Amino acid sequence: MGFAGRDLISINDFTNEEIEAVLELADEMNSALEKGERIEICQGKDMATLFYEPSTRTRGSFERAMHKLGGTVVSFPEAQTTSSVAKGETIADTVRVLESYADIIVIRHPWEGAAKVAADYAKVPIINAGDGGHEHPTQTLCDLYTLKKGKGKIRGLAVCLWGDLKYGRTIHSLIYALARFGTEVFCAPVQGLGLPEAVLRKLHSEYDYVPKKVKGDDLRSMMGEVDALYISPFKPYNLPLWPDLDVVPFIDREALRNADALYVTRVQTERRGEDDQRAQESHPTVNAKLLKEFKKKTLVMHPMPRVNELAYELDNYPRSVYFQQAAYGVPIRMALTALLLGASQIEVPRKDSFLPRKTAYSRYKEAISVKCPNPNCVSRHESRYIVPKFEMLNEEPLTLRCVYCEHEIHPPYIASSEWHHGLMLEDKKYHSADSHWLRKIKPENLIIFDSEEEARAKGFRPSKYVTAPR
Ligand code: CP
Repeated sequence: MGFAGRDLISINDFTNEEIEAVLELADEMNSALEKGERIEICQGKDMATLFYEPSTRTRGSFERAMHKLGGTVVSFPEAQTTSSVAKGETIADTVRVLESYADIIVIRHPWEGAAKVAADYAKVPIINAGDGGHEHPTQTLCDLYTLKKGKGKIRGLAVCLWGDLKYGRTIHSLIYALARFGTEVFCAPVQGLGLPEAVLRKLHSEYDYVPKKVKGDDLRSMMGEVDALYISPFKPYNLPLWPDLDVVPFIDREALRNADALYVTRVQTERRGEDDQRAQESHPTVNAKLLKEFKKKTLVMHPMPRVNELAYELDNYPRSVYFQQAAYGVPIRMALTALLLGASQIEVPRKDSFLPRKTAYSRYKEAISVKCPNPNCVSRHESRYIVPKFEMLNEEPLTLRCVYCEHEIHPPYIASSEWHHGLMLEDKKYHSADSHWLRKIKPENLIIFDSEEEARAKGFRPSKYVTAPR
């Protein structure tokens, strides 16, 4: 499949070979930029940058990239106040208007799933420049390019992800890519800010990644007070172990000390819940003393902006590449923009390399009552036109995944729409989700409830297969 006309919402929208193709084209763009050559292959094309959240690097480099490609930019740097969103306009309407003014739209939004909604409604390509704490795929392209330039490869490296792994959207996109490229990943989260359950599950079920922990004592002696570390080897493991992390084997301190790159992130204070308020203070700052523990010529990376988690004394450390990482945003976003606009074509080779497992989950459609529980999901905010949609990941226990923000839910009660349509109200019955009824009801007819009160309010009565939720 070519790139022209496509969206980039998740890093998983591209195969490994497609990612490599973008990196190769970016390398050509980078060389041309260094030589001062003109690459105006997007003349006559327009980009809209629609940013509902602050940005220095992403918006700046997208706009610079488009200018370097000879195109023009319609910029909305504070879309929440300067666009008609301030008057209540929806994402769907905004992008359907902007597609008349632009050939490609770059969107950053605080709500998870917002870029997917934009892509669902716009006819022009949509690029996700960060949707809440969900994903930031173009940052991952910059990160992978930085790794490749610094270490000559991606596959086989060992990378330590450090900081806020819960709300850090750059982390989520990056760990999927690293898993797919066969990179060992060590995770050193701030206490309480480990990888979200939905990300861990996806790593396991779709990319055969199972985490390991580092012994807390090893970690503390090396770095101070840190909650936990995970390592994710690139091969199928004993799947029934999941998700009980306590039975997953430990790695030792030596493994961490051999990391090829330390990817530091700040705590995303703008997204933290109340439970996370005390987390940051307990995490060590990455500084020269800490780096001495690393045995290899470890690259120090950071998507930036930084706050207190990365000492300024490292700015002159020869392996600190975070400013270079930001600078690579221009050639990377030039390559991506040119490809999605069809201004560059690349033959993407088909290899026998690892591809993400495409699991064909059933689609749950009967949105009679269940909302996505994530308060930051776009479906909770744009409910005038978005119908909640879920994929059914698992039957026992019943596990649904929101198609917008990918949060998981475990609804306790179910019913069938098929057997109630056209029947008397008193025939409507609901059952426990862990009863045999789940296997009898087709996914497209499944109705789910968060509580018995909700089921009763919708006119359903309990069947004899109702038990208290576990
Ligand atoms: N890395 C990154 O997304 O930076 P900005 O928030 O400045 O765009």
